[in-house]
Amino acid sequence: MANLNIIYREKDVPNIHELPVYLKHGGYDALKKALKMKPAEVIDLVKASNLRGRGGAGFPTGVKWSFIPQSEPVKYVVVNADESETGTFKDRQIIENNPHQLIEGSLIAAWAIQATAVYIYLRGEFWDLAQSLDQHIEDARKKGLVGDNIAGSGWNCMVYTHLGAGAYICGEESALLESLEGKLGMPRVRPPFPANKGGGLYGEPSVINNVETLTNVPWIINNGADEYKKIGTEQSPGTKVFCVSGHVEKPGNYELPLGTTLRELLFTHAGGIANGKQLKGVLPSGGSGPVIRFAGNDDPLLDTPMTYEDFAKIGSILGSASIIVMDEDTDMTWVAAKITKFFKHESCGKCTPCREGTYWLDKTLDRIMSGQGQEKDVDLIASVARNMQGVTLCALGEFAANPIIYTIKNFPEDFKARLDGTAAPVVVAGH
Ligand SMILES: Cc1cc2nc3c(=O)[nH]c(=O)nc-3n(C[C@H](O)[C@H](O)[C@H](O)COP(=O)(O)O)c2cc1C
Ligand code: SF4
Repeated sequence: MANLNIIYREKDVPNIHELPVYLKHGGYDALKKALKMKPAEVIDLVKASNLRGRGGAGFPTGVKWSFIPQSEPVKYVVVNADESETGTFKDRQIIENNPHQLIEGSLIAAWAIQATAVYIYLRGEFWDLAQSLDQHIEDARKKGLVGDNIAGSGWNCMVYTHLGAGAYICGEESALLESLEGKLGMPRVRPPFPANKGGGLYGEPSVINNVETLTNVPWIINNGADEYKKIGTEQSPGTKVFCVSGHVEKPGNYELPLGTTLRELLFTHAGGIANGKQLKGVLPSGGSGPVIRFAGNDDPLLDTPMTYEDFAKIGSILGSASIIVMDEDTDMTWVAAKITKFFKHESCGKCTPCREGTYWLDKTLDRIMSGQGQEKDVDLIASVARNMQGVTLCALGEFAANPIIYTIKNFPEDFKARLDGTAAPVVVAGH
């Protein structure tokens, strides 16, 4: 089995964030190798590896790159370092500890699509990371690895960082492009899609990839698609960083092969459910994915392999793999109400079902949580949430409907306890 720290290489090589250390351990060799290949060959190699986007949707990366029309003279690579999904904190660790591998992966993507520049869009709170990333980019530029005549190839490509202002919606790729252009971060109407003329950054064809996705690329170029596919499963190859938070003994980021079971992640790596409690629920993709119900620590569902395909089979999504763990004492109505407050606050308001829907869900849940709810309120929120599905301009509307729909479906007894007064009234804090 190949070395499993593809992403978090600092675990094997201390100080790999420093350029001399990175170079000593094969850093930028993959870029030099890629520069000797034809751009189309690089795309074919990444396609053959079946690397899937780590930003949430799991879209095949090489296929995404192949959508870019080569005939257009100006093209961009945009790195999504917005990292705003609830419970997600993996990209930060990459930027802090292995930044050159991200820069190298972004430049390989840029060579593959023949981009003129790379923009790394970071969430506003990452201002300190943006500063250190600027320094790493400058170090690489001074060594001739970024900017003009990269590695003596005659090819020019600069890498820039850009800070957002701290809005969840700016992680959505088209809102991110708007924000990067200096406009209000609101999703665009598509088509045209970012890969097409008119749809990308400044109207030019653009590839948008997540930080973790691009950090995989140097390893794939160095070791080949077949080696990469030996890790993980056929449909979900490679490693994945799982961000574990909530009621576990050892929360944190764990890089493991895709296909590792949820049981192994939670009980072998994350130390088990905190304080000897039993597992009740898991949000596998932060607040945005369907919540999964567990009947304690022996539930066979815990043996589900963590892949895009297996999580779809159990009625949820792997998404960004931000695994929020909840024990037997968790009130799932509180969870639904808390997440709803987040989405209400973060809805950009551009389309009616999401803007109005999140408002009404929040208001009605407040009533239920305060002990004033009636049975018809649960039907009302279920109906409002259903009416948000599939009709909004971006996926945030869908994300906001999920906590309601799946909490009512998977934890009906928690709602019942709210309505019959068994659960004590509570005010859920939020915006
Ligand atoms: C509301 C919303 C928020 C998102 N936030 C992020 C984010 O913080 N980081 C990210 O990489 N992708 C985020 N995405 C997904 C991006 O739109 C896009 O699919 C992703 O950056 C593509 O990269 P990938 O193909 O490498 O996964 C978000 C999507 C939506 C709808
Ligand atoms: S779904 Fe919500 S966040 Fe997305 S565009 Fe519509 S209002 Fe904005």
